[in-house]
Amino acid sequence: MTYGTKWMGIVVVALGVTVWWSALCAQESRQRPTYADVAPIFKQHCLACHTGPQAADGLRLDAYAQIMAGTGKKAVVVPHKPAKSELLLRVRGQKKPRMPANGPPWLSDAQTAVIELWIQAGALEH
Ligand code: HEC
Repeated sequence: MTYGTKWMGIVVVALGVTVWWSALCAQESRQRPTYADVAPIFKQHCLACHTGPQAADGLRLDAYAQIMAGTGKKAVVVPHKPAKSELLLRVRGQKKPRMPANGPPWLSDAQTAVIELWIQAGALEH
C-alpha cells in the first residue's frame, strides 16, 4: 500500500464513522417521544371519560401532571418501565377492561408504540 492509499483509507473510514454516528443520533432522537407526542392520542381517544372531576377511576389524562399523578391511589405510568405501566397494559388489553373502554377500535400499533417508547424513554414532559 502506498502512502497515498493509506491516507485515503483513513479518510474513508472516518467519513463512514461520521455518517454512522449521525444516523445513530437521528434515530435516538426519533425514538425519544415526549408528552407532546402522546398528548394528542389521549386527547382523541381517552378524554371522553378521563377528564374533570368525574374522570373514570379518578384518572385524568388531560395534562402531564395529572397523568403522572395517576388515579391518586396509584401511578398508571412508571417511567422507564412500560411493563409496569397500567396505562400501556390497558391499551394493549393485557389488563382488563381494555382501554379505550368504548372500543373497539383500539389504538393502532403505531399509537401504542409511541406510548411505549415514551414510557421507555422516561415519560418526559419535554
Ligand atoms: C368510554 C369511557 C372510557 C374511555 C374512552 C377510556 N377509558 Fe380508561 N377507564 C374507563 C373506566 C370506566 C375505567 C374503570 C374501569 C375499571 O378499571 O374497572 C377506566 C380505567 C382506566 C385505567 C385504569 C386506572 C386504574 O385504576 O389503574 C387506565 C390506565 C385507563 N383507563 C386508561 C385509558 C386510556 C389510556 C384511554 C385512551 C386510550 C382510556 N382509558 C379511555 C373509561 C374509559
